[in-house]
Amino acid sequence: MASSEVDLSGIKPGQAIKTTFRSQPLFVRHLTPEEIAKADATDAATLRDPQTLADRVVDGKTQWLVTMGVCTHLGCVPLGAGEGENKGEFGGYFCPCHGSHYDTAGRIRKGPAPKNLEVPPYTFTSDTAILVG
Ligand code: FES
Repeated sequence: MASSEVDLSGIKPGQAIKTTFRSQPLFVRHLTPEEIAKADATDAATLRDPQTLADRVVDGKTQWLVTMGVCTHLGCVPLGAGEGENKGEFGGYFCPCHGSHYDTAGRIRKGPAPKNLEVPPYTFTSDTAILVG
């Protein structure tokens, strides 16, 4: 299966882009300090799919959230990256199909989705590029 390289240099803080990995949507988000603080302020133990932000990002690269853009309910593409300013009630992503709200760490917070947005395997190839897959 092919890997995908993603150039991060043009993604501003607060912005998320939608690209593709293995024919599926991939979201790459540049978190602001406020978005990081918001994710860290949430007690992971209280979540449906308990994960901290640190569980979902690379050490030392906390500002980069890389997830699949596939809702874990029935597979729609959530809004909040690229097009669609609707980030949902928790400031991350919103799936309009049945109303799942994801937070700034891509964790499910409200609605029918059972799991957080999946984090694919990836590595940083430089300060401004990742290789997914
Ligand atoms: Fe996203 Fe149902 S597919 S809420």
